[in-house]
Amino acid sequence: MAASQGQFLHAISLFLQMRSSVAPRSSVPASLPAALKSSAALGLCTLATSLHALAIRSGAFADRFTANALLNMYIKLPALHHPFRTDGPSGERGVESAALESVQKVFDDMLERDAVSWNTLILGFAENKRHQKALSMVRVMWRDGFKPDSFTLSSVLPIFAEYADINRGMVVHGFAIKNGLDNDVFIGSSLIDMYANCTRMDYSMKVFNSFSDCDTILWNAMLAGCAQNGSVEEALGIFRRMLQSGVRPVPVTFSSLIPACGNLALLPLGKQLHAYLIRAVFNDNIFISSSLIDMYCKCGNVSIARRVFNGIQSPDIVSWTAMIMGYALHGPATEAFVLFERMELGNVKPNHITFLAVLTACSHAGLVDKGWKYFSSMPDKYGIVPSLEHCAALADTLGRAGELDEAYNFISKMKIKPTSSVWSTLLRACRVHKNTILAEEVAKKIFDLEPRSMGSHVILSNMYSASGRWNEAAHLRKSMRKKGIKKEPACSWIDVKNELHVFVAHDKSHPWYDRIIDALNVYSEQMIHQGYVPNMEDVFQDIEEEQKRDVLCGHSEKLAIVFGIISTPPGTTIRVMKNLRVCVDCHTVTKFISKIAAREIVVRDVNRFHHFKDGNCSCGDFW
Ligand SMILES: *[C@@H]1O[C@H](CO)[C@@H](O)[C@H](O)[C@H]1NC(C)=O
Ligand SMILES: *[C@@H]1O[C@H](CO)[C@@H](O)[C@H](O)[C@H]1NC(C)=O
Ligand SMILES: *[C@@H]1O[C@H](CO)[C@@H](O)[C@H](O)[C@H]1NC(C)=O
Ligand SMILES: *[C@@H]1O[C@H](CO)[C@@H](O)[C@H](O)[C@H]1NC(C)=O
Repeated sequence: MAASQGQFLHAISLFLQMRSSVAPRSSVPASLPAALKSSAALGLCTLATSLHALAIRSGAFADRFTANALLNMYIKLPALHHPFRTDGPSGERGVESAALESVQKVFDDMLERDAVSWNTLILGFAENKRHQKALSMVRVMWRDGFKPDSFTLSSVLPIFAEYADINRGMVVHGFAIKNGLDNDVFIGSSLIDMYANCTRMDYSMKVFNSFSDCDTILWNAMLAGCAQNGSVEEALGIFRRMLQSGVRPVPVTFSSLIPACGNLALLPLGKQLHAYLIRAVFNDNIFISSSLIDMYCKCGNVSIARRVFNGIQSPDIVSWTAMIMGYALHGPATEAFVLFERMELGNVKPNHITFLAVLTACSHAGLVDKGWKYFSSMPDKYGIVPSLEHCAALADTLGRAGELDEAYNFISKMKIKPTSSVWSTLLRACRVHKNTILAEEVAKKIFDLEPRSMGSHVILSNMYSASGRWNEAAHLRKSMRKKGIKKEPACSWIDVKNELHVFVAHDKSHPWYDRIIDALNVYSEQMIHQGYVPNMEDVFQDIEEEQKRDVLCGHSEKLAIVFGIISTPPGTTIRVMKNLRVCVDCHTVTKFISKIAAREIVVRDVNRFHHFKDGNCSCGDFW
């Protein structure tokens, strides 16, 4: 980075020297492209503007190398304004679109265009999400006699990847084959990305296998594709093949592998990768270390994350934030605050994610004053405007602490329009603090924004039942049925001996299903002995009590947890992931089981982590 920066500065200083030494006019065009490129790379807008004026005055603009460099400069510097643009200042159309107008103007003024000019323009539009414009320019380009080449195709393929438009993506693929461009690695990797994002990893694989000699770019594209496809095992298989064929990984190789392990909470695989990184001396790369921290936190082991963090010589904002977020989600929350202070002392400025982390810590620890303090320091001290997520975290803090009215006022007065999920936070707080009157008010807001919100209907209806307002509860249930609201199927998964076991609610297909239910029944007996009462709050069916109990038994996280216990040696920590929030009954049952079976159980639901130990949960029964 520093070296290239030095080069750019050098190019500019050379250019300025030539200009000042009354150089002959002819020397301007030759050095101008390099100066344009350098000012774009260094973000020197004032210089860029005067170079543009110079290009026009000196006639250098007629030279297509100079003009192409100008085009490129306008794309790189979106804040730059074309001196002769007639359509007025950027105004409400935003800086991006205004910048592209300038680019277009340079392009239109060019006397002579080549494929590079077209490709520069198309890439500019594609990268700025002006997709239709980019695609239509490809047609114009072709009409003007410039056949799309490998550069053009690899600019448009990401567009079809983004739209998951496999049909048009395949047309491009066909064009590439017909024109002998399909062995170009950039096109190959764009095709792999495109097919992977269209959930056709099998096609990605075909493209990949069509290359006899695979470049690092292709390997990395395949790894990213597998990770996106959710097949971490396959990604690791590819990774091993990559190593066997002597291709040396680069840091970006791990940028999809490590997060994939984190997202599926595959701790053993994550550890294997980590071991490889240490052997290959990649672990001193700060990007990799940060993603390891994030991965270990997502897998539920903050202490290993902390060890990785401690090994970083001078942590950057990403690594600080990953570590702070780890403590925010798992506790101890105080450690998150300590780190935040240490980070500030080290002159690293927090960003909006860091604030989300400390606010989350405040909410999980029920610290209202601290929450307010961080929240107001964002604009006051750091000039960061709180986003919806920050507001939601503060609202959650207030609600959790039982300050329901304050939470209500806060949400009502938010500068950003609250979404149904922000209100849902408060609704859950109303449930915990048993405030039915406010809950009704809040639910009304939610139903306005999201009429089919399953969770909110269930919470409100159960609150009605709990306070004896049976008619209203029944009415709500009827309206739900009328609206055809159905619960998203719950699913939980657990990794046992490197094999992923997925449990869907009431699915009896797992080979160990009968053994799981037998074990669950044994636990149930002991639990009832210790005072367990099934909690039907989240069961929403008009069925007999007896059957309800069966329904509860079939919940996916219970199946996964019990399977974990009976298939691992005593004392092994059980880690289960769930796609929804944990239900009240499962939460209670898991607390009992953690004590009866003497196991630590870590459950990651869609919202947070629960660490169950000795009959208690780290969330303090609020989630
Ligand atoms: C993948 O497709 C989805 C739509 O299905 C889109 O939102 C997303 O941006 C795409 N990702 C990439 C990297 O193109
Ligand atoms: C993964 O790829 C397979 C094979 O192409 C496909 O059937 C599956 O739907 C993909 N899954 C995802 C989540 O992309
Ligand atoms: C984290 O990993 C360490 C080392 O492997 C282990 O001693 C510890 O029990 C783990 N902690 C949790 C919460 O799994
Ligand atoms: C679990 O919670 C109970 C009640 O809140 C408390 O008395 C007990 O000490 C806790 N046990 C542990 C191991 O934290």
